[in-house]
Amino acid sequence: KRTALIMAGGKGERFWPKSRVTLPKQFLSFTDDGRTMIQLTVERISPLVDIKDVYIATNRNYKELVMQQLPGIPEKNILCEPVGRNTAPCIGLGAVHVMKQCEADGEQDALMIVLASDHLIKHNDIFIDTLKAGCDVAAKQENLVTIGITPNYPETGYGYIKYNRDAKNGESYAVDAFVEKPDLDTARKYLASGDYLWNSGMFIWKVSTILDNFKKFMPSTYDGLMKIKASVGTAEEDKVLADEFPNLESQSVDYGIMEKASDIYILPGTFGWDDVGSWLAVGRIKKNDENGNVVNGNVVTVNTQNCVLEGRDKLIATVGLRDMVVVDTEDAILISTKENAGEIKQVLAKLREQN
Ligand code: GDD
Ligand code: MG
Repeated sequence: KRTALIMAGGKGERFWPKSRVTLPKQFLSFTDDGRTMIQLTVERISPLVDIKDVYIATNRNYKELVMQQLPGIPEKNILCEPVGRNTAPCIGLGAVHVMKQCEADGEQDALMIVLASDHLIKHNDIFIDTLKAGCDVAAKQENLVTIGITPNYPETGYGYIKYNRDAKNGESYAVDAFVEKPDLDTARKYLASGDYLWNSGMFIWKVSTILDNFKKFMPSTYDGLMKIKASVGTAEEDKVLADEFPNLESQSVDYGIMEKASDIYILPGTFGWDDVGSWLAVGRIKKNDENGNVVNGNVVTVNTQNCVLEGRDKLIATVGLRDMVVVDTEDAILISTKENAGEIKQVLAKLREQN
């Protein structure tokens, strides 16, 4: 059986002021059709995974949002973390619920496709074919499977995966090493070598395999997860989760498991992937007008080029702007160069200092 875990607990700070702690990126739309990123994610995998086998791991504060945006997901599949502990505990919690469901259904094991909730993909059909091929590799032995993306610039916000181009096995290659978020010099070297792919943050494995890897590489987290597992479906469930989850090690799956594990295989993805990392990405993704502007809301432009201009009812008028981002919301306005739009996190840090 195939199941999916969608990780949707991120704070998405880089889209302030449109994204807020109360409304992070995965619950917003960045495409012209208005569907949110998490809605697109769930829809995209529907040819592969039955909706009743889709699990969403998120912060408990976002449960209502998930239910509103994804009414087809069974409520028991919305896994609510009392606090954010990064992606390793998030995946562990998902694994425990999938395993519990297998036991309830009298099944031995299940495949688990782990996806981020905030990526855009251009070619869904190729994406599904890649995941299918990945499922075949993950179903064999104790393999961990990851999807890689061919890099085209030295991004330092991504993980890199060194793979062995000579060790092709069907659609997949053996992985030599995981390197999470290198510095710029290192990223440049990786790019030039051709031996690295970007870590897309998507994984496939048998639920038994990932639990074994937790046991091996994150043993105290594993113990906590087993306590949580024992409580699933009982009256104690909420209490045990509230007691145990905050004690799990705050760690990404990339550092906590993938960098240490063996038997990892990678499938290069050629489906047009974008992690929509900042306002800069919106200029790439949304339809540009004849001057290269992405305009949303009540906007008038004069001699304005290559800008992202997003407002509401209030009129935004721009004259002579180049490569800028202007975002107007009810209580905050962002005015930034496109180039520096990745530094919005520093605004938020300042705001936190002041409060
Ligand atoms: N449930 C839950 N709980 N989800 C989380 C949590 C958490 O504590 N933290 C993050 N997520 C979700 C985010 O919503 C997102 O969908 C996904 O997990 C990845 O988290 P990010 O915070 O966006 O990670 P990143 O972008 O810094 O890095 C990861 O993704 C890159 C590609 O986008 C890594 O896997 C990198 O190696 C990779 O290149
Ligand atoms: Mg991300």
